Amino acid sequence: MPALAEKLLPWFEVNRRVLPFRQDPTPYHIWISEIMLQQTRMTAAVPYYQRFVTELPDPAALAACDPDRLRKLWQGLGYYSRAANLQKAAKILCEQYGGALPASFDELRALPGIGDYTAGAIASIGFGLPVPAVDGNVLRVFARLYNDDSDVTLPETKRLFTARVVQQLPADRPGDFNQALMELGALVCLPNGAPQCDSCPVASLCLGRAAGRAEQLPVKPAKKPKPVLPLTAVVLRGPQGVLLQKRPDRGLLAKLWQPLLWEGTLSRQEVADRLEQLGLPASRLEPLGEAKHIFTHKVWQMQGWLAETEADTLPGRCVWATTEELETVYSVPSAFSAFRQAMAGGNK
Ligand code: ADE
Repeated sequence: MPALAEKLLPWFEVNRRVLPFRQDPTPYHIWISEIMLQQTRMTAAVPYYQRFVTELPDPAALAACDPDRLRKLWQGLGYYSRAANLQKAAKILCEQYGGALPASFDELRALPGIGDYTAGAIASIGFGLPVPAVDGNVLRVFARLYNDDSDVTLPETKRLFTARVVQQLPADRPGDFNQALMELGALVCLPNGAPQCDSCPVASLCLGRAAGRAEQLPVKPAKKPKPVLPLTAVVLRGPQGVLLQKRPDRGLLAKLWQPLLWEGTLSRQEVADRLEQLGLPASRLEPLGEAKHIFTHKVWQMQGWLAETEADTLPGRCVWATTEELETVYSVPSAFSAFRQAMAGGNK
């Protein structure tokens, strides 16, 4: 067995976190958990995972799920296209694979939303196939192990590091090895210059540590500042609840629900005028403060208002939602979490 695996696997056996998808690591369970864990922290993802697989225990249930319900199950996880792709892929599994995931890296890789990493994770952890699964954790661990200052955001660096993982992969336990590397990255070989080398099971093999450079690795280029979009959000409450508007069918946060949202930072008078134009004149209008939400490619800078109306006009793509429906039916993205209390009837 390669030297890395020899040290890493016994460490993993003792230190592996108890996680629900590790109790019953079926390919379906691995798939769902790995998609959730892209861009979402483990502690945040676990309760979502449990709710998701309880309600949708297999690809057939996922394929048949009402899309609004699916978005509600995903509410708060972010990157909602991941959920849409899960369902697209589940439909393909039902139509072409008898409702099961294929035991083949290439066939997994061809499904919507499944890239090299996820295909590798499902194939190795779910099916025991000897393939690598290289995520950000693994890139960081390998940059340090090999004392390699290549830019880890470049595709060619990923190819080179993946080839090194393949060299180290033990043929009999690829799933454990891949998970052990991720676990090492999550628990010991921490990002942002904070590696815990004193408790690292592979410190004796680590060239970055030997060179005293582990903290400076991996190398990534500086991030560009994101454009800031000023917006005005109006939480409007009426006799039948709070007004929610469904976002456009395509683009950012497609088909999710939100308070009234306008581009620009509107004055109090402008907000009052717009409500009047919608046939929803405000009987009360108060500032709710500012809220910022950072997306991958932009930042929303929102100014919030709490408004009340006696009217019950319904503008396009809108509903009046009760507090109960807000909680159980309508998926409102985290971008609006600063206004959630006002939406649910607080701030009376
Ligand atoms: N992060 C993403 N997937 C993981 C896994 N399978 N084990 C540990 N950390 C992870």
